[in-house]
Amino acid sequence: MSKLTTVRPLIAGNWKMNGLTAALDEARAVAAGVETDPPGARVAIFPPATLIHRMADALAGQTVAVGGQDCRPEVSGAFTGDTSAEMLADAGATMVIVGHSERRGGYGETDALVLAKAQAALRAGLEPIVCVGESLEQRDAGRAIEVITGQLRASLPVDALKGEAFAVAYEPVWAIGTGRTPTLNDIEAAHDALRTVLIELFSDQGAGVPILYGGSVNPKNAADILSQKEVGGVLVGGASLKAADFLAIAARA
Ligand code: PGA
Repeated sequence: MSKLTTVRPLIAGNWKMNGLTAALDEARAVAAGVETDPPGARVAIFPPATLIHRMADALAGQTVAVGGQDCRPEVSGAFTGDTSAEMLADAGATMVIVGHSERRGGYGETDALVLAKAQAALRAGLEPIVCVGESLEQRDAGRAIEVITGQLRASLPVDALKGEAFAVAYEPVWAIGTGRTPTLNDIEAAHDALRTVLIELFSDQGAGVPILYGGSVNPKNAADILSQKEVGGVLVGGASLKAADFLAIAARA
């Protein structure tokens, strides 16, 4: 049980580049499970862009939200292959992940670009989840806290976010898809540091912003991770692809 009392935790499933039409059945199964046995958390699925519209239709009237995995800051234009926040909202998304390490690392996305994407999300009426996380090299050099707090400060459009719903995700790069997780103490230290920055930037609002942990979360480790004081949910990759595993994680919140 999360000790955060101000907001409901968020259990977010990031499908990454996985899922064809048949995977909509998994989303339906998640929604059915949430309906039968409502967890104390909000639940959201972030499918590939090709499935957003159909998933939003399939889950219409259900409590499971649908989100995008990324967006481009501009509303529209000559940006081949990209998707704007407005397009995600038009397809039925209500949330969007920005600054995931697979975007920061794989596409050289800077904090400034992540900030612009978060701003675009708000413009389109989407709730952004802003991701931060250190590399193994940075952690081994004792710089994890400095790196993630620096990313957070530089990635948040503070004025635009005032009074708006948003979440932060702490995702150590070396824990993503590796089966390795930080110790509970390390997770708590990271989340404490992020909370301090949020309170500094947003005062009371900063105390209630959910800070999700992400990186190799599974049904076995979810309860311990979610019981950490400042952990306000989880961002789940691999274990979100099967409804049974994802529901088992949501049940721990
Ligand atoms: P993972 O991915 O759960 O497969 O480690 C988490 C993420 O990248 O959001």
